[in-house]
Amino acid sequence: MIAPILRTLADLRAATSAWRKAGETVAVVPTMGALHDGHLSLVRAAKAGADRVIVTIFVNPKQFNNPEDLENYPRTEHKDAEKLEPFAVDAIYVPDVDQIYPDGFATNVSVSGVSEGLCGAHRPGHFDGVATIVSKLFNQTQADKAFFGEKDFQQLMLVRRMARDLDIPIEVVGCPTIREEDGLALSSRNLLLSDRARVYAPALNVAMTRAAERIAAGEDVATVLGEAAAEVVAGGFNDVEYMELRSAETLQPMTALTGPARLLAAANLAGVRLIDNIGVKD
Ligand code: PAF
Repeated sequence: MIAPILRTLADLRAATSAWRKAGETVAVVPTMGALHDGHLSLVRAAKAGADRVIVTIFVNPKQFNNPEDLENYPRTEHKDAEKLEPFAVDAIYVPDVDQIYPDGFATNVSVSGVSEGLCGAHRPGHFDGVATIVSKLFNQTQADKAFFGEKDFQQLMLVRRMARDLDIPIEVVGCPTIREEDGLALSSRNLLLSDRARVYAPALNVAMTRAAERIAAGEDVATVLGEAAAEVVAGGFNDVEYMELRSAETLQPMTALTGPARLLAAANLAGVRLIDNIGVKD
């Protein structure tokens, strides 16, 4: 069944208020489209966790700090709807821009702390754009639960913080990263990789996996991170924006493995920016 595609807030509200009246729970899976198996795993989790599921597709201009990146972002609405067909979701919300940012829109949601450093340092304004759109989508859908991938770990932490701080009554559920067989984390940006770049792309995860094992085995964190970054470049990447160990609970930088940790990295490969993160056992 092809789910109804809703383009206005009025249509979305009409659907959700009928569900609420019937006592049904609602889950939202926010996306920017170009759906892949990672998104579909979120949809599967949402279906298991609520009576009704809304998938949102909106390429949010406010979270792109680079106009070229916004222009190149893949837009595949028709294919996305087809991919969702087997899941029988209840609505696909593809809002027109004015439904999100009407004329005169002047509000910015900014979350300090978890948004600082990592991607926050390299993409100015990105996380304000994410926090603003996600708070809008939470309010527009009034969902009980929202599903996000751990692939964007900093984003997941930021969304949790924002929902808590703004008293938005929603449960934010994080779902594990889905990977290709060679370890490459699924991402809509993988579509932008040339065939040649795709061959090099797994080098990021390979280096990170080895680094996580070495850190877990007690090796010096700074040495391991430096060597892992060099390994990524030797593996074909142009540069590494960051390779850092952070607390899995607070996202504070860690210089030694003193608790649950996450290794996070971003690196550029032939004009495509890839990010990844993995848990490090303490
Ligand atoms: O992860 C994404 O695709 C986006 O950042 C999100 C959460 C849909 C907000 O635009």
